[in-house]
Amino acid sequence: MEKLELPMSDYEAMGLLRSAIVPLLSWYDIHARTLPWRSNPTPYWVWLSEVMLQQTRVEAVLPYFRRFVEALPDIPSLACASEEQLHKLWEGLGYYSRVRNLHKAAIQVQQQYDGKLPPSYELLLDLCGIGEYTAGAIASIAFGEPVPAVDGNVLRVFSRMLGCESDIASPSVKKAFREILLEIIPQNCPGDFNQAVMDLGAGVCLPNGVPLCGSCPLSHLCTAFREGNQMVLPVKSAKRARRIEEKTVFVICTSEGVLLHKRTEKGLLAGLWEFPNLPGRLGRTQAESLLRKNGNELLKLYSLKEAKHIFTHIEWHMTGFLAVCRRAQWNQTVLVSLQQLETTYAVPGAFAPFKKQLLDYAEKGMA
Ligand code: ADE
Repeated sequence: MEKLELPMSDYEAMGLLRSAIVPLLSWYDIHARTLPWRSNPTPYWVWLSEVMLQQTRVEAVLPYFRRFVEALPDIPSLACASEEQLHKLWEGLGYYSRVRNLHKAAIQVQQQYDGKLPPSYELLLDLCGIGEYTAGAIASIAFGEPVPAVDGNVLRVFSRMLGCESDIASPSVKKAFREILLEIIPQNCPGDFNQAVMDLGAGVCLPNGVPLCGSCPLSHLCTAFREGNQMVLPVKSAKRARRIEEKTVFVICTSEGVLLHKRTEKGLLAGLWEFPNLPGRLGRTQAESLLRKNGNELLKLYSLKEAKHIFTHIEWHMTGFLAVCRRAQWNQTVLVSLQQLETTYAVPGAFAPFKKQLLDYAEKGMA
């Protein structure tokens, strides 16, 4: 496994990091984003926000976060929620195993800690779905424990600052960064320190394209800036190429509603609802004869706009058809009204373009 190699001693690296604390916190005083889980950093809010933020950007998380805490305002209510409700609240965020782990952990917290998250990094690590990053974020932000929360932003900011050329995708490099940061993290405001680095990484020390070094409070300390290496650092090994899967998606509706199929309880998008679909791309004629053969009484068949969805290791390239039927039929499906589709059934983001075309059709009809 790759080791962390720095162009200076660990001792010098810690000195450089210590001298970053004051300018970083002063910058954060002025530029910190106002966020609900910062204004009210309860352990539950911090935990939930951190799990959501592992999926996507702050702006995208905000409406999900608000809806979630309104529906499930505390850990006991989360522990009692049904999987269907949780999937619906998470619909479109992706990585649904994260919300299932959140649920399992809430039940653990209910049973072991009377519904309150344990106030220590080590105990948090024992909860389902909570790894080093999340435990560090909750412990530092909600409980003031001086531990780092090392995510991609933190690795990028400090790799540049220290001129580190080691691969930040390597777990041992991440571990070594964590150990160094554990030594220098300010004891009196570890949550602000961690969040200041996250904000700097999200808004200034940008991942793609040119970082905004002219606005960076750490540029006078930054090795990459001094040496003009900002675009080269951090070094991050390429991800494995994704497998492409072709699919044909059938949105089969009647005046009563639309057919949905529940995915199996294991694997990709486990337990979520989807429009019936088949591997491979069917042409219009093939789609029509298949629908008729399966017993659908077709009134109209529309070709839908193609869609693509990217998962971590797979890409779906999808063709779709909207079948308007007098009688609709597909193995192992249920007919749900469009209102139930909106309020109750969690359909993952991969199918959102087809769902949108269905709702547009229901509203306006199609040419
Ligand atoms: N990204 C992940 N956690 C965050 C936090 N607490 N504040 C800002 N960005 C984040």
